[in-house]
Amino acid sequence: MNRIAIYPGTFDPITNGHIDIIERASHLFHRVIVAIAVNPAKQPLFSVEERREMILQSTRQIKNMEVDFFNGLVVNYAEARGAVAIVRGLRAVSDFEYELQMALMNRKLKEQVVTVFLMPHEQNIYLNSSIVKEVFSFGGDISYLVPDVVLKALQEKIPRNLDK
Ligand code: COA
Repeated sequence: MNRIAIYPGTFDPITNGHIDIIERASHLFHRVIVAIAVNPAKQPLFSVEERREMILQSTRQIKNMEVDFFNGLVVNYAEARGAVAIVRGLRAVSDFEYELQMALMNRKLKEQVVTVFLMPHEQNIYLNSSIVKEVFSFGGDISYLVPDVVLKALQEKIPRNLDK
């Protein structure tokens, strides 16, 4: 038995909140595939290759995972990879409606792929990638929210507005 889970997202960039979910999933499944969505609705700051590299470097301690990317429907990708589950983080009540809609739609599309919700540590529940980028760009400290490799990448990519 080899239970594979997909953890899909944009990961622009990966934060400690995502790593928290990957770690939890890695204890539940034999293999976790972190799947970067090539999402036409978003204009990511980092290329897929940059995002992949940051994920790899910040999850070295997790042995039963890999990083990939996909286009199109996540359920098709999950099926193609032989996954039994899609893992999603559920952070706050505000996530619930959107997550319910996605989970039900994905179930309608592919009954056999089950969505599993995991809750991150409470210190990570208010996080998202956009807020990290915004706070960083205005000079705020985000070093405790992202892995070092992401902090370095942001320093190279985003000019900081430190004006009062
Ligand atoms: N910790 C910290 N931040 C988190 C988090 C966690 N545990 N989980 C999510 N976030 C953040 C993300 O970084 C993201 O931030 P951003 O909007 O500022 O970029 C935000 O919360 C929303 O995350 P999420 O809901 O995972 O969106 P996403 O864009 O990262 O991923 C997909 C959405 C890719 C999973 C979804 O659009 C998808 O499956 N697309 C494929 C097409 C498809 O199948 N569509 C039909 C689905 S029914």
